[in-house]
Amino acid sequence: MHILILGGTGEARALAERLTGQRLAGQRLTYSLAGRTRAPVLPDCDVRVGGFGGAGGLAGWIAAEAVRVLVDATHPFARRISENALTAARVAGVPLVTLRRPGWKREAGDRWTGVPDLAAAADALGGVPKRVLLAIGRQEVGAFRAAPGHRYLVRSIEPPEAGALPDGAEVLLARGPFDEAAERAFLARHGIEVVVTKNSGGDATYGKIAAARALGIPVVMVERPAGPEAVETVEDALAAIGRHLAGPAERGE
Ligand SMILES: NC(=O)c1ccc[n+]([C@@H]2O[C@H](COP(=O)([O-])OP(=O)(O)OC[C@H]3O[C@@H](n4cnc5c(N)ncnc54)[C@H](OP(=O)(O)O)[C@@H]3O)[C@@H](O)[C@H]2O)c1
Repeated sequence: MHILILGGTGEARALAERLTGQRLAGQRLTYSLAGRTRAPVLPDCDVRVGGFGGAGGLAGWIAAEAVRVLVDATHPFARRISENALTAARVAGVPLVTLRRPGWKREAGDRWTGVPDLAAAADALGGVPKRVLLAIGRQEVGAFRAAPGHRYLVRSIEPPEAGALPDGAEVLLARGPFDEAAERAFLARHGIEVVVTKNSGGDATYGKIAAARALGIPVVMVERPAGPEAVETVEDALAAIGRHLAGPAERGE
């Protein structure tokens, strides 16, 4: 009864902890990470780090390790691994449970400009120089080299590669959660005029959204890529996994 969780999010970790806590007889759980973060917070189960070698590699691993259910609990913006999960589950003939937390919804007072990707986000900053917070992780800051002239503050868990940074960008290393009060103080202290973020959803990084609203600061919001059908909560993921692991009789077949 081997479950493989493709992780890298708080929800993935929470799901792994819940499954471990259930201590089901014969259950084996593997939590998988890409290996982007040097000191990730890990659940208390088997952990494997590094890519599988595409959808084919993942399907091969699933077969070799007798995985019964594949869970894609990766970040809503981690597109490639989610596509691989979909293909690999089909090829290996195992059920796929996709867990994706809901995106943030615009509220009264929010000054969001929605954009489809980071190139469009860079474009949306316009020609007038501004003090910009890039709260988008470290991997895609290079998109803002196309919009020089702004004063960028990059906040990320791991340092971006120096060559990827827009000229003159400052880097601040920090790991959430960030609450609203702290984010208000942070935005004010750094004189931030625009926040750029992905619509990641979740509570851990919502503080900057609430703080920007309170301070009247515009937000360039990168909207989510389309993804496969998904459940939105750890609870629903647990239920779906349970159904897949249940015998045909329990499923009423
Ligand atoms: N993108 C974001 O904004 C973001 C934010 C927070 C956390 N994360 C987390 O960071 C990780 C990488 O994100 P990404 O956007 O770089 O992914 P990606 O572009 O979708 O994936 C790139 C490659 O990384 C490997 N990979 C990704 N996630 C993996 C996992 N959980 N376990 C094993 N291999 C994995 C796969 O390599 P192979 O093809 O060789 O298998 C995949 O093809 C994910 O775990 C994601 O949940 C991403």
